[in-house]
Amino acid sequence: MKPSKVIKKEITVRVYRDASQLTEDEQRLIREAQASIKRAYAPYSKFSVGSAVLLENGKIICGSNQENAVYPLGLCAERVALFTAGSHFPDIPVIALALATQKALKPDEVPVFPCGSCRQVLIESETRHHHDIKLLITGSDGRIYVIDSVKKILPFAFQGDSLK
Ligand code: THU
Repeated sequence: MKPSKVIKKEITVRVYRDASQLTEDEQRLIREAQASIKRAYAPYSKFSVGSAVLLENGKIICGSNQENAVYPLGLCAERVALFTAGSHFPDIPVIALALATQKALKPDEVPVFPCGSCRQVLIESETRHHHDIKLLITGSDGRIYVIDSVKKILPFAFQGDSLK
């Protein structure tokens, strides 16, 4: 059957061979996310993730995934960093998030992107502070995948407005 309308959403991911073309702040953010991998507590999945968020005031807050014997209680690295940032600096916008994992990539394989739950928490931060969050996703091959806003990877998002 022919639809009355077709809605298409496009996503642009810019892939850099390495971090050298990014700003100093962004490079520092990526290094902090990579360093955070070591602080992950992931004895169950054995999949360690590090993240770091950059605030508008220049501060960087790190996070790593924290698991639990009761599996669903664990939290992703991105949400650990975002909730820490929100609880320490509630009025300062998050302007970028870097994500790093140890997963070995096959040629042409994209690295790990934030899970659906983290995307939902990320978009809440964008909306709350009226500021896009740039995502810097690192692959184990040194490449950096850059997306300018969480909205791009969470189209048709459920948001506070949806409740009105
Ligand atoms: N994980 C993250 O920390 N971030 C993601 O975006 C994807 C998954 C963690 C959660 C869990 O501790 C482990 O990776 C396996 O899912």
